[in-house]
Amino acid sequence: MKNNFYQKSFVTVESLTVDDVECVMEKTDEMEKLVREKGGDDRLQYKVMAALFYEPSSRTFSSFVSSMQRLGGGIIPLNGMSHTSVIKGETLEDTVRVFSCFADIIVMRNPEVGSAEVAAKYAYVPVINAGDGKNEHPTQALYDVYTMLKHFSSCEGLTVGMIGDLFNGRTVHSLSKLLVKLGTRIFYWVSPKVLKMPREIYTAVTNAGGEVIETENVDEILPKIDVMYVTRVQKERFANLHEYEKLKLNYIITADVLKSTKKDMIIMHPLPRVGEISPEIDTDPRAVYLREQMRNGLYVRMALLDLILRK
Ligand code: NCD
Repeated sequence: MKNNFYQKSFVTVESLTVDDVECVMEKTDEMEKLVREKGGDDRLQYKVMAALFYEPSSRTFSSFVSSMQRLGGGIIPLNGMSHTSVIKGETLEDTVRVFSCFADIIVMRNPEVGSAEVAAKYAYVPVINAGDGKNEHPTQALYDVYTMLKHFSSCEGLTVGMIGDLFNGRTVHSLSKLLVKLGTRIFYWVSPKVLKMPREIYTAVTNAGGEVIETENVDEILPKIDVMYVTRVQKERFANLHEYEKLKLNYIITADVLKSTKKDMIIMHPLPRVGEISPEIDTDPRAVYLREQMRNGLYVRMALLDLILRK
């Protein structure tokens, strides 16, 4: 399968073709097998990844570090930029050019919408977007899709319910745009009115053939969905914490809520959760968030590093 990722930045799901997604899925299967059988290998020996994280991260940061290490590469791990020249006022443009001199690839998380695109423009090496504000989180979307494909033969025909902070949640923005590209047609978007999906995502999804049903009521979607994708209300995006407190636990998924869902649906969450999924359902076999979904993040990121750094 043709590798269109070689030496290219990966900033948005919008740049992906269906073939590109297939290429990542295939490489991800290879990585899953590699980790299972040997833990890793040294195909990226002497390559270095700089992880520049301007915003908090547990999973994304650690899984990228682990991915690079499992493929034999080196890392410049900056989880927080407070000990770098950023504090002295260095611009993003300069920072990424500086790290380009030490690293073969930059993985960046930054609170500014559009920052990944800026970084990709100025860096001399490829940049992977690990989250730019409330805009996109494209690597998350790829492993969410990979997880779905492990349960359903295709994304076509799936009915997907997204619940929570759809306005600020970058994971659901990337995932919606990617799923519609892969043939998913029915989207239920459940949120309080003020946290509705941004209109540009609505337009992108409906223009691409998606049918979107927006509601505040989670009960009405329960028997219909194949995938329940739950998100936390994004506290850090609120200017008014009072408003956050009012909205934060609008939806709580409990065992009771699951009673009217399909037997073969799956429950996903990008994590961290802060109360919106009750721990009592963690042992439900349909709950994939703390197990395979997160684990798949490692394999997908290994796949991307390999595809971008090796021909
Ligand atoms: C997500 C993020 O940072 O957007 N976390 C993650 O990378 N898995 C989701 C979130 O923080 O709510």
